[in-house]
Amino acid sequence: MMFFQIFFALSFLFSFSNASDFCVGDLNAPQGPAGYSCKKADAVSVKDFVFSGLRAAGNTSNLLKVALTPAFSTQFPGVNGLDISLVRVDYAVGGRATMHTHPEAAEILVVIQGTLYAGFISTTNKVYTKTLEEGDVMTFPKGLMHFQINVGKSGALAFAFYSSASPGVYLMDNAWFANDMPTDILQETTFLDPDQIKKLKGLLGGTG
Ligand SMILES: *[C@@H]1O[C@H](CO)[C@@H](O)[C@H](O)[C@H]1NC(C)=O
Repeated sequence: MMFFQIFFALSFLFSFSNASDFCVGDLNAPQGPAGYSCKKADAVSVKDFVFSGLRAAGNTSNLLKVALTPAFSTQFPGVNGLDISLVRVDYAVGGRATMHTHPEAAEILVVIQGTLYAGFISTTNKVYTKTLEEGDVMTFPKGLMHFQINVGKSGALAFAFYSSASPGVYLMDNAWFANDMPTDILQETTFLDPDQIKKLKGLLGGTG
């Protein structure tokens, strides 16, 4: 009798602690501000904690000559609830990550191969830039606009790590020129020349 009581108490404790050790994202449930709901603990296996999607280089045949391969909670539900995630960044010669922010996360970038010129701009409009060589690491504080450019003579590879499982990516050029915001409103709100706005809308798929 005592044995069964202890057994049930222990198995209750075990399942309870198991449930609170992690919160593998249930991708079939909606994503809220705190992330995905937890997958039922007995449905979780080691596969949920391993992601092989960063093995291969991404396709850099695009305007930016860059490939971003994310391992955020949507691609890698094992990071859900852990306040961490990462992205693989492949840069072709002359490739660049244009000015962008991650509203939900600080970033730390490590250069594995090649030479990057990287920087960010503070909310007091101070500019912090540096040429990064292999093995160098740079932080980009949460929410600040930042960029990297491959200034080397060959392809470059970096991994960026985030303090959120869902850092968000807010690309400045796309926010301004890849939608139907009317050109005259953009002109009024940015002081840019209408011809320049139309040129960039053409390049990035915007209208209006
Ligand atoms: C890379 O992307 C380009 C443009 O979308 C496409 O034409 C090309 O086939 C892709 N290359 C590979 C290896 O997938």
